[in-house]
Amino acid sequence: MDELIIFSGNANPKLAQGICKYLKVSLGNALVSKFSEGEIRIKINDNVRGKDVFIVQPTCSPPNENLMELLIMLDALRRASAKRITAVIPYFGYARQDRKDQPRVPITAKLVANLITSAGADRVITMDLHAGQIQGFFDIPLDHLFAVGVFIEYVLESGLNNIAVVSPDVGGIKMARAYAKRLNAGLAIIDKRRVSPEKAEAIHILGEVEGKNAIIIDDLIATGGSLVEAVEALKKAGAVEIRAAISHGVLSGMAVELVGKCKALKELVITDSIPLPREKAIEKIKILSIAELLGEAIKRINREESVSSLFY
Ligand code: R5P
Repeated sequence: MDELIIFSGNANPKLAQGICKYLKVSLGNALVSKFSEGEIRIKINDNVRGKDVFIVQPTCSPPNENLMELLIMLDALRRASAKRITAVIPYFGYARQDRKDQPRVPITAKLVANLITSAGADRVITMDLHAGQIQGFFDIPLDHLFAVGVFIEYVLESGLNNIAVVSPDVGGIKMARAYAKRLNAGLAIIDKRRVSPEKAEAIHILGEVEGKNAIIIDDLIATGGSLVEAVEALKKAGAVEIRAAISHGVLSGMAVELVGKCKALKELVITDSIPLPREKAIEKIKILSIAELLGEAIKRINREESVSSLFY
């Protein structure tokens, strides 16, 4: 693994450190800073000529800063003659506008994919995309990992049984089904109608949840509105204990307060794809690390080995 080198922007250096620890390598030395007026200033301090380079940079909040850091780091590494550059973007932001579903709207996910490719990425590693088809927006190899294995291990270790896996909307059925299969549990779906971009309304539940321990599965929690509505609907339908396993803790605005106040929600489990600021850490939110999952994917890509067993 001599040729492998990992860099991090400012989006999630702790995760990058965790990956380096798993791979027993030290983090590459780069200056990721700002000029006085706020422009991003990058300088790669390690020699990367002919090396297999990975940049760990989820495009989480602040999304514009983090995306721009990633693009400029890609440019710097390409110009420094890296042999291959992989953008490791465990949380791929700007994924919501992924199709023209109304007149005069952009397809921002495609724009961002183009920017990342043009800046110099040879390949991408990401996890639990908001919509799987975003993979096709990249014309370079992309490995789409899933946090399911990390969550399943946690649930199995907790000894929880009599489980109903719940998708909070129709779009999440595929993801929830993968969990239900692995946990040998029932599957339920919340038929949700969105009232406005900020407010979702849960209507009714398809599937058996009465007397069950419900686990709500989702790709991301932003305002927390969808989760709280799902929890309330499940409580009304007679679920016993209600937990949530959500890959990306965007947790914007008052989401943490909302989660904290939601009495019927026993636990929210997220991954460290996005760092949770210390002031937002509450007992109810449990964070599982994806450092090993990403580290293993990086190791296999570096060795030109298959990563498909990490997909489930
Ligand atoms: C919806 O398609 C997503 O999977 C999430 O359920 C949604 O984006 C969560 O947003 P919020 O937490 O703001 O309700």
